[in-house]
Amino acid sequence: MEATASPQRVSMDEITALAKRRGFIFQSSEIYGGINGFWDYGPLGAVLKANVKRAWWRDTVELRDDVVAFDSAIVMHPLVWKASGHVDAFHDVMVDCKVCKHRFRYDQLADTAQCPDCGSKASFTDPRNFNLMMRTSVGPMEDTSSVAYLRPETAQGIFVNFKNIYQSARKRPPFGVAQIGKSFRNEITPGNFTYRLREFEQAELEYFVPDDGKDLDAFTEWVERRKAWYASYGIASERLRFYELGEAERPHYAKAGVDVEYLFPWGWGERESIAHRGTYDLDAHMKLSGKDLRFFDEAAKTHYTPLLIESSAGVDRTLLTFMIDAYERERSVDPNGKETERTVLRFHPQIAPVQVAVFSLARNKPELVERAVAIEGALRRSHRTQYDEGNIGQLYRRQDEIGTPLCVTVDYETLGDGSVTVRARDSMQQDRVAGDALQSYLEKRL
Ligand code: GAP
Repeated sequence: MEATASPQRVSMDEITALAKRRGFIFQSSEIYGGINGFWDYGPLGAVLKANVKRAWWRDTVELRDDVVAFDSAIVMHPLVWKASGHVDAFHDVMVDCKVCKHRFRYDQLADTAQCPDCGSKASFTDPRNFNLMMRTSVGPMEDTSSVAYLRPETAQGIFVNFKNIYQSARKRPPFGVAQIGKSFRNEITPGNFTYRLREFEQAELEYFVPDDGKDLDAFTEWVERRKAWYASYGIASERLRFYELGEAERPHYAKAGVDVEYLFPWGWGERESIAHRGTYDLDAHMKLSGKDLRFFDEAAKTHYTPLLIESSAGVDRTLLTFMIDAYERERSVDPNGKETERTVLRFHPQIAPVQVAVFSLARNKPELVERAVAIEGALRRSHRTQYDEGNIGQLYRRQDEIGTPLCVTVDYETLGDGSVTVRARDSMQQDRVAGDALQSYLEKRL
C-alpha cells in the first residue's frame, strides 16, 4: 500500500491503544490514576527502545573512529545550569485560567481571550515565566544550599568534561562525543502521548571542529548523515522534513540550525535538532568556572576553543516516529474471496522487537511443540525470537501487530523432512524452507 503524506493516516488513539494492548507503552502509575508527562515501556516497548538506541549508537559511535562514548550524571553541580543559561532563561510563558485553574502555554493558545477548557472569557492571569528545570535537593538538609536540578539535556555533561575527554581519549578536533540518557523538563503541557514528556531520553552528539573555515561543511555533513540514517531505517521521506531555521529563529550565537520534523497525526513536529553552536557552550563554562577548557594543539603550541556542531534527537520521539510510520491498516481478499483486515507494523528488521516468531501448529502435540521450541532456542543466538502456539491465523495477526518480519511454523511435515513454513509479514507470502537452510534464509531477509 502506498504511504501518503496525510496526517490522518493513523490516529493517536489507534497508536495508543495498540501500544497498550501489545505491551509497548503503558501510562506510568496507572493504578493510581497516572501522572501527566510520564510513561512506562512494556515488555516489547523496552526492547524496541533498546533497538532504537542501538541503531543510533552503532551508526554514530561504533562505526566511526572520530566519535567517543560518554555517560554523565543526571544531577550535576547547580552552577552548570547557571553557566548554560538554563537557570535564568529556560522557561516557557504560561497563563492560568482563574475559573477552572488550568494552566496553558501562552504561545500555544489559539485564542488568548477564551479558556479552551472551560470556555470562560477574559479569565486568564497575566502571562508569567515558568522555569522548566526539574528541581530536587541533595543531601540530608533541605535548604537553598541543597537545591539541585535533574538535567534538562545530556549535552552539558559533555561540555564540562571536554578537557577530560579529549585528553584521555587522545582526540583532536574534528571529533565528537556521544551520549544517550534521561533528561527532565517540567513541561507546562505534556501531551500527544510520548511526544511531550517530563521525563524522556535524548541521543546527543556534540561534534567539535577547529575554526578553520570548514565548520559549515561539517554542519552540512551531519545533516546529510542524519538524513541517511532515517532513510536507512525506512522512514517515509514524504513524512520527514529537514527545516532550515532562519536567522531570526536561531539563537544569536548559532550560525546554522536544522529541525528534523516528522508528520505526526496532528501535524509536523520536531524530533531532532541539529545546530551550529559556535563556541557558546565552552565559553560559558570557562567564564563561570574560571577553568581553561580550550584545546591545546601540541604541534602548533597554541590553545583554541573549538566550534560545536550538535545533533540532538529525542529517543522517545524517534520510537514514536518509528511506530507511527510503520503502522498500517491493510485490507485484502483471502483465497475464499472473503475480505479481511489486519493491522501491521512494518518495522525495519533491526528495529523490530521480535525478528522471528516460531510456532507449533498444534499445542497438544508434544513432538511438534518440542521441535518448535528447539528451533526457537537455536535461532535465539542470532536473532530476537519468540515461541508461540495455537491458532495460526491468530498467531500471524498478533505478530503482524507487533511488527515481526518473519514467522516460522513447525507442522507434521517438519517431523518427516525437517522443513518449515516461513511466512513474511509484508507480503504474507509463505515459503517452504529446508531445515538446514533456515538459518541462511533468515539471515538473507533480516
Ligand atoms: N541539547 C540540545 C537540546 O536539548 P532541544 O531541541 O531542546 O535541544 C532536543 O531537544 C530533542 O530532545 C528534541 O528534538 C526532542 O526530540 C527531544 N525533547 C525535547 N523536549 C522533549 C520533551 N519534553 N519530551 C520528549 N522529547 C523531548
